[in-house]
Amino acid sequence: MKFFIDTANIDEIKEANSMGMVDGVTTNPSLIAKEGRPFEDIIKDICAEVDGPISAEVISTEAKAMIAEGQKLAAIHENIVVKIPMIPDGMKATRALASEGIPVNVTLVFSPLQALVAAKAGAAFVSPFVGRLDDLASEGMLLIEQMVTIFNNYGFDAEVLVASIRNPLHVLEAAMMGADVATIPFGVIKKMMSHPLTDKGLAAFLADHAKSQK
Ligand code: G3P
Repeated sequence: MKFFIDTANIDEIKEANSMGMVDGVTTNPSLIAKEGRPFEDIIKDICAEVDGPISAEVISTEAKAMIAEGQKLAAIHENIVVKIPMIPDGMKATRALASEGIPVNVTLVFSPLQALVAAKAGAAFVSPFVGRLDDLASEGMLLIEQMVTIFNNYGFDAEVLVASIRNPLHVLEAAMMGADVATIPFGVIKKMMSHPLTDKGLAAFLADHAKSQK
C-alpha cells in the first residue's frame, strides 16, 4: 500500500519522509491556504523534497480553463498530478489531460458511480472522501470496498486513493480492502506508530538497563 501525506506543510512532509512514510503528497486549496505562502512556491518545495506523485488542484470549474490550468501545473514538475473535481466539466478536462499524458487525480468523490465515471474518463487516481461521508452518518469505508470491487472487476488502471482520512482505523480498513493508496494527515501517521504497550515496554527495558549499570 502506498502512503501519501495529505498536507502542504513542508516540515511535516520532511519529517514523515525521513521515516519512509511518503510515497507521494496530496494538497488541496484549503491545505495550501493554511500555509500562508504562494501556491507555486509551496508546490515547488514539495516537488524538491518528494520523488513521487504530487497532487496540485485546479481552481477553475469550466473544462477549457481546467485544461489550461492543468497544463500549467504539469509544467511545474514532472511529478505533478493534476487534481480535478468530480463534475461534468472535470471529466472533460480529465479526458483531455490524460490523453496528453498528464496524470489526473479526480477529487471530491462520494459515490461508487462517481468513481466509475472518473476511472472511465481516464483518471490515474480517484479520491473518495471517507471522513466527510462518516460526518454525514454515511459509511465512508463502504465506498472504498465498492470502488476496489468495481476497479478490479473491469481492470481499470485508476488507483483508489483513500482521502479525508481522520483516524488510523480508516487506514487499517483501507489496507484490508486492498486500496492502492491512503493519503494520510501527519497527525494520523504519528498515531499509527504508537502503542501504549510499546511505550510501557521501552520504559521497562530502559529502567532495567539502568539498574544493570549500577
Ligand atoms: O485532500 C482531500 C481530503 O483528504 C480532505 O480531508 O479532512 O478535509 O475531509 P478533510
